[in-house]
Amino acid sequence: MTPLFLPDENATLALGAALAPGLAPGMVITLRGELGAGKTTLVRGLLRALGHAGRVKSPTYTLVEVYELSRLSLYHFDFYRFHDPSEWIDAGFRDIFNGRNACLVEWPERAQGQLPPADLDIALAVTEPGRSATLVACSPAGERLLAALPPS
Ligand SMILES: Nc1ncnc2c1ncn2[C@@H]1O[C@H](COP(=O)(O)OP(=O)(O)O)[C@@H](O)[C@H]1O
Ligand SMILES: [Mg+2]
Repeated sequence: MTPLFLPDENATLALGAALAPGLAPGMVITLRGELGAGKTTLVRGLLRALGHAGRVKSPTYTLVEVYELSRLSLYHFDFYRFHDPSEWIDAGFRDIFNGRNACLVEWPERAQGQLPPADLDIALAVTEPGRSATLVACSPAGERLLAALPPS
């Protein structure tokens, strides 16, 4: 699809929020883009729309943050500092991608070969001003999620 233009932080939050109603247990969404592209901001908008009132910390150091929401369990990964695939096994991440948890994954390319296929891939880029977002559905569930987005 044509990239969406996100003129400011609020637009990135709103895109995340727009994904919330269609996010279902088991879905995997990958978020690509350089540092500062707005990946964590988008997840913050999504979490708020799902009813999370607290902070949304970047999982840069912890690799994963977990949110038990009323409708689903959401795992927010950031694989920026992920280098050793054996860490994957040790940390038990494989069990998290179990078809029931919703998983949002920053820097998926650093865990290549370890991740299940995504339903939706979101590529963010700095455009000065603002950001662009390119959304690609990679499964029927992802197609439905995209189709449910309000027209921009
Ligand atoms: N559409 C936008 N336009 C301008 N700034 C934005 C936009 N979306 C997010 N930002 C800003 O970009 C910065 C980095 O965002 P962050 O979500 O932490 O990036 P990432 O997780 O990709 O490293 C934040 O200061 C945020 O406010
Ligand atoms: Mg981030």
